[in-house]
Amino acid sequence: MTSGVTPDASVAAGHRTRAALNVDLLKVPDFGTSGEPERNILRSPLRHLDAEAISARVRREVRNREVHLPPVSTYRWWARRTESVNGAIIDAVNSDHPGRLVVSDPFAGGGVIPLAAVMRGHSVYAQDLNPWAAAGLAAMLDLPDPESLRAGVAALSQRVLAPAQAAYGTVLSNGTPGQVSHTFRVAVAACTHCGTRQKLFPHALVSLLSRVERGLPEAFLACPNGHLFQGHRDRTRRCPTCSVLIDPAATYTPRRVVTCPCGHQDRLEARAAVTGLDWEVVLVERAGGGRRELGLPTPGELSAAAAEHSRPTRQLGAIPAGQETAVLLRHGFRNWEDLYPRRQRAMVEQLLDLTVESSSDPAVVAALRLAVVGSTEMAGLLSRWDRYYLKSYESMAGHRFNFTTLPVEPNAWGTVTSGRGTTLRRLVQLVKAAEWLQGRTGRRLQVQGPVAAASASVSPLVGTDVDGVALQRPDVLVVAGSSQRQLLPTGSVDLVLTDPPYHDDVQYGELSQPLQAWAGLASPESVGDAVVNRATGQLVAAGSYSALLSSIFRESARLLRPDGHLIFSFANRDPKVWVELLEALQRAGLRAAGCAVVHSENETDHAKRGVRACTLDLLLDLVPLSTKPVEQHRPATAAGDEGQFLDIVTRYVLQVGDLGTGWHEAFLEQAAAAAFVQPRRRG
Ligand SMILES: C[S@@+](CC[C@H](N)C(=O)[O-])C[C@H]1O[C@@H](n2cnc3c(N)ncnc32)[C@H](O)[C@@H]1O
Ligand SMILES: [Zn+2]
Ligand SMILES: [Zn+2]
Repeated sequence: MTSGVTPDASVAAGHRTRAALNVDLLKVPDFGTSGEPERNILRSPLRHLDAEAISARVRREVRNREVHLPPVSTYRWWARRTESVNGAIIDAVNSDHPGRLVVSDPFAGGGVIPLAAVMRGHSVYAQDLNPWAAAGLAAMLDLPDPESLRAGVAALSQRVLAPAQAAYGTVLSNGTPGQVSHTFRVAVAACTHCGTRQKLFPHALVSLLSRVERGLPEAFLACPNGHLFQGHRDRTRRCPTCSVLIDPAATYTPRRVVTCPCGHQDRLEARAAVTGLDWEVVLVERAGGGRRELGLPTPGELSAAAAEHSRPTRQLGAIPAGQETAVLLRHGFRNWEDLYPRRQRAMVEQLLDLTVESSSDPAVVAALRLAVVGSTEMAGLLSRWDRYYLKSYESMAGHRFNFTTLPVEPNAWGTVTSGRGTTLRRLVQLVKAAEWLQGRTGRRLQVQGPVAAASASVSPLVGTDVDGVALQRPDVLVVAGSSQRQLLPTGSVDLVLTDPPYHDDVQYGELSQPLQAWAGLASPESVGDAVVNRATGQLVAAGSYSALLSSIFRESARLLRPDGHLIFSFANRDPKVWVELLEALQRAGLRAAGCAVVHSENETDHAKRGVRACTLDLLLDLVPLSTKPVEQHRPATAAGDEGQFLDIVTRYVLQVGDLGTGWHEAFLEQAAAAAFVQPRRRG
């Protein structure tokens, strides 16, 4: 196994003369034919990359991101890129430009690029439009030292004992005291024809009683009339209440259409619109004494779940219309707090209050709060249950809000035996993240921000004053707001390394809103959002995505030193999106220095769209226009349809800076013929 990045002793000691290089992923230095590096020819750092070694490493990383890069568990972001690719690029640039680099990322999102840079001892300028991303990123890099964090976790755990017990305390069937770890609700709605009220279980098989790999058949089953009982996953049987014969493989709400016993069929959203949905508690999971069990709720558990006496007060704001929020609005949710059962809301509010008294160190309080806010991605009326693996999914899994008629409410604090994404789990991960980061950087980083993009410009991140004395500057500056305006002076950055929105792939602004609201941050600016959104009309007009990207690339290039590089990864199967991208680059005053192809391993992210997934990323290396000769780096053609498509794309990418008129038509014609962009045949 490759060792990953070797922590550099000189960094740990505070002498940052030369940052750590991950030599595994770099080829031997490549000198000109004379044996001397040729000073006047611009060459792409991508020539140093060993694409195969990187792809292998990417594969390992995406299989277990939280082990490879523990700080990413600090805050939720969608479609994070990999440290393997970005770290290797930074190392490649660093081998051409030894010393401490200033790396800027104008689309910093989940913060993988800033992390890859700081763990190598470089300084970072990171900006994102989204306030949740900017706040999360600053908190992730500014984690308190592990000791103080542990003390804060202990203090919070003490304070939470009584309230958590009051909200979730129970007894398992064998008499062991425990807590309710999950509470299942089913949607109840009336037929629009006859008015009969029905429990809308999605499937006959509600949940196995033990994880599927144990091979045991016992399960909870539901009949179409909404009765719940124990049976076997592989045996038909009659409902003990109404005697209907149940096939455990049956689906009751195919394509979100429900059938009433009267024979009438309704779309779920029609029922939600006409009569609204009620949510009835039908099942609980209890955890205690190292065990977990599913069971029908007792009267005590039902009354605790109803939480009649708690009075949550926070208003999280209205759910705006959007591409991803449409499913919520269609099913009757109006405000963000509607996604949460009363007990969950009250518990989260209480936990947030308790964080304040759990430490006198503001950084510790901020970290504890981040864990509590993070737990709200498991919204009790939206999180889906995996009936085979007995775990819940975050409400925005797969880049979507997941509507289900059988949502599960987590124990917001968390139990030791069960509960993904709960506060307790997050706190454990935070401590690990803090330890890991300290191990890599050898000290606590100086992080400034998030500061608003409208603030005054700042001085360079690395430099000396007139007397040659090193400037006291932060290791990381985080900025919130559109990267059309960035705060560093012209010519003060060695490398812009980034990852712009891939057109309309992920609606970051919409998905982050509940987290943002719980964190008490202002709503994301939609002005300047570089993501195309067909529901709101944002950037839908021809050329507007390109124009916005272009202004951001131009501003990013302004920050670059004359010999600096702007490198980013991109994937999209729509040739028209590539046209917009290349136009944006050319208009920003950039020219191509090279390309490389690496595996992105993101098939699961995209599979949902029913189109062929992009599994390769194109890395593009650009430099500011100048008269210097460029020796371009060209990738070898990757295998398969996607490789062939990228080959066509690459031919045009390498002409950026020199694309004449009329190239669109030629490119679109060639690209349209590529097998990769043909609609996928069904069956
Ligand atoms: C592909 S993501 C970056 C992902 C990041 N590299 C990671 O690994 O997590 C693109 C980011 O661009 C941000 N964004 C969109 N429009 C922006 C703008 N005008 N200025 C700055 N950031 C913007 C989005 O909020 C999103 O976080
Ligand atoms: Zn009916
Ligand atoms: Zn029945």
